[in-house]
Amino acid sequence: MKAFEPVRLGPITLKNRVIKAATFEGVTPDALVTDALIAFHRRVALGGAGMSTVAYLAVTSGGRTEARQIWWRPETLAGLLRLTDAVHAAGAKVSAQLGHAGPVADPWSTKTPAFGPSRRLGPLGITRAVADVESVIGAFGDAAAMAEQAGFDAVELHFGHGYLVSAFLSPRENRRTDEWGGSLEGRARLARAIAERVRERVGGRLAVTCKLNLEDGVRGGNTLADCVQVARWLETDGTVDAITLTAGSSLSNPMYLFRGDLPLDEFAAQFREPRRLALRLFGRVLFKHYPYEPLFLLPLAKAVRAAVKLPLVLLGGITDLAGINRALGEGFELVAMARALLKEPDLVNTMMRDSAARSTCTHCNRCMPTIYTRTRCPLNEETALSDPPVFQG
Ligand SMILES: Cc1cc2nc3c(=O)[nH]c(=O)nc-3n(C[C@H](O)[C@H](O)[C@H](O)COP(=O)(O)O)c2cc1C
Repeated sequence: MKAFEPVRLGPITLKNRVIKAATFEGVTPDALVTDALIAFHRRVALGGAGMSTVAYLAVTSGGRTEARQIWWRPETLAGLLRLTDAVHAAGAKVSAQLGHAGPVADPWSTKTPAFGPSRRLGPLGITRAVADVESVIGAFGDAAAMAEQAGFDAVELHFGHGYLVSAFLSPRENRRTDEWGGSLEGRARLARAIAERVRERVGGRLAVTCKLNLEDGVRGGNTLADCVQVARWLETDGTVDAITLTAGSSLSNPMYLFRGDLPLDEFAAQFREPRRLALRLFGRVLFKHYPYEPLFLLPLAKAVRAAVKLPLVLLGGITDLAGINRALGEGFELVAMARALLKEPDLVNTMMRDSAARSTCTHCNRCMPTIYTRTRCPLNEETALSDPPVFQG
């Protein structure tokens, strides 16, 4: 069956077409690899996915959304090597998500001001305008080179969700008048320059992918037509081996990424007063609701599929083999799954045995606030299902 056959992704071959999408793991209290982080990815690999994605590895300390996130520095290499070895021994490939949070960065915990394309007042305060764009491009290149040293097979450049590169792409966030702003061509210059630099540093040895918004879901933000154009440019540049299509903005419209229920009480419980009270009072206004549907990004993603030949990864609401086959039938080379593999890390192996198997994820989204403690599916604990085993050795 095509879903479970090997597939090439740039210079590497995955044993099947299922990628575990990045879900920040929340198990790195000192911003360094822990046994729990290794266990998390080993569990995914043992469960049959072709590749696991280590979530959100920031290219600089100030590019983190919180202090616990790993950022690329020499001290991280030994731990990451242990992680990539463990995933390889369990039979899968492993990708490193490289990102800079930009306006989503937490200036209090990283002790660095938050940066965006322009000086703006956002939900987390005032962002300063990036003065030295070249240093951002350099940081992505250096991070990719370190990912190679750490044994990763691929890097995923985070160009979505309102983070720094996504904010540069956005006409709402990017008010620059220099070559990095203005028209879509100017606003896309950073994404293209980062992809080019990363390609120069690791291309041909590591697969280079990016996670790009189909649309921001925010008034005045990027539209599907913008995404199609950026995908065309990336294809012409020849700098990425595939694009994973996503949507939404972590700060301005987070539920657009996920769809389904908003676990407001569980979210609020993670914060101290007065943020807790504010979330309880205004959460339902701040977080717009979007009903969940299987393959919820497919209708938009088809427009990109029709416009480029570049391999595309479909993400969003894929929970069973019927969904995977539908994505492949629509011309997507690969699929990425996040919540379904948090619920059932063994799902790929199970589907290989039983083609009717499906994830029992209810898209209650209660996994989302677990990123503040240890990312997991709370339903599994309630039903005493698998807790990831702690990695030994
Ligand atoms: C708990 C959790 C953490 C996430 N963390 C990240 C992240 O660090 N980086 C990222 O690009 N997306 C992150 N996402 C979004 C997922 O990668 C994915 O885009 C989204 O969940 C939709 O896919 P799904 O329907 O298969 O769950 C996260 C999602 C969840 C549920």
